[in-house]
Amino acid sequence: MKYQLENKKIEIVVASKLSNELTLEQNCVYVIDKKVYELFQQDFNSISDETRILLFEANEQSKNLASLPKIYAFFKAKNVHRRTLIYGIGGGVTTDITAFAASTYKRGCRCILIPTTLLGMVDAAIGGKTGINFENIKNGIGSFFPAEKVVLDEKYLETLSNSKLQAGMVEIIKMSFLSNTNLPELLERNATLIDLIREAIKTKMDICVHDLEDKNTRRMLNLGHTFGHVLESVSDYVISHGTAVSIGIRAAARLSRNLEFIPKSVCEQIENRMDDHNLPKSFPTKYLKGINKNGREVLKQDKKADTQVNLVLFKNLQKLFVYRTDESDEVLDVLREFAND
Ligand SMILES: NC(=O)c1ccc[n+]([C@@H]2O[C@H](COP(=O)([O-])OP(=O)(O)OC[C@H]3O[C@@H](n4cnc5c(N)ncnc54)[C@H](O)[C@@H]3O)[C@@H](O)[C@H]2O)c1
Repeated sequence: MKYQLENKKIEIVVASKLSNELTLEQNCVYVIDKKVYELFQQDFNSISDETRILLFEANEQSKNLASLPKIYAFFKAKNVHRRTLIYGIGGGVTTDITAFAASTYKRGCRCILIPTTLLGMVDAAIGGKTGINFENIKNGIGSFFPAEKVVLDEKYLETLSNSKLQAGMVEIIKMSFLSNTNLPELLERNATLIDLIREAIKTKMDICVHDLEDKNTRRMLNLGHTFGHVLESVSDYVISHGTAVSIGIRAAARLSRNLEFIPKSVCEQIENRMDDHNLPKSFPTKYLKGINKNGREVLKQDKKADTQVNLVLFKNLQKLFVYRTDESDEVLDVLREFAND
């Protein structure tokens, strides 16, 4: 699949032989998720000079400013220059920080991403957003810097936990509600996961080519995320991003129904599509206290909000729009409906 993101040509390939993709040029450097390296060491045998590999301990805490000097020092030691190919291989954490480092080192180097989680394949490595966490702001520092190539290999999915697979599936289902996609049809006929991945990438890229910087249609990809952010935040990130967004999509459907943008039957269709894939539908009641105490503040601070809360809601099953409201309570009330022990 080939795309043009602003002035950059992007290629997305499903690899037949990954080792060929790893040695496209001499003197490449590789930032590899340590766990992925340990699980799939034989894949990296084609890299003849091991000193060109930096293993990265990937988690939300390491996706921060403190990790950057190590990565930049590695680039410096390996004489990385603007034409050097920098590979980021791993989940969203590794591809986000590697792409960010590539976008800033020497004012921008070449970058190839090899996502190894489902979320990475359909979302994090696709569409050109890079980022690191800053203090308590998730992805508080970042850039728009599409990788010139993204290489997928579905064998990496075999070692993922169910919850990690589910997190990626939530994003695929989210994209199935966009208007420019064949995902509903593929889901209907139980298409293979790789076909769903291909279509999800196409769906996201078709949006990003027109709106790389999130000014317009790309905002629809935030479906479920504003509600979800409240749950992640009040649970101190114990509720995972995937679970939070899944509940967030259901909350968006319920609020759309409450405000009479969609009838009850469409709300049910949305929730049924989520249920068909066993996606999370409730959170523990113990977090209600946090919603009551801090929910309004989280909504206020959400980066997508200006003076009002911006929510992506449903106009129908396949049409989303941005709804702006001053009423934090109507948002939080819907969310509270999903508390269940
Ligand atoms: N840039 C974007 O547009 C964008 C979009 C969505 C999410 N993200 C970011 O992505 C990150 C989440 O990504 P993630 O869920 O991939 O998390 P992750 O990178 O933390 O990976 C999750 C865990 O899975 C392990 N792992 C990776 N590949 C594996 C494999 N094949 N088998 C077994 N274990 C494997 C990792 O070592 C890690 O422990 C967040 O930081 C989020 O902000 C970015």
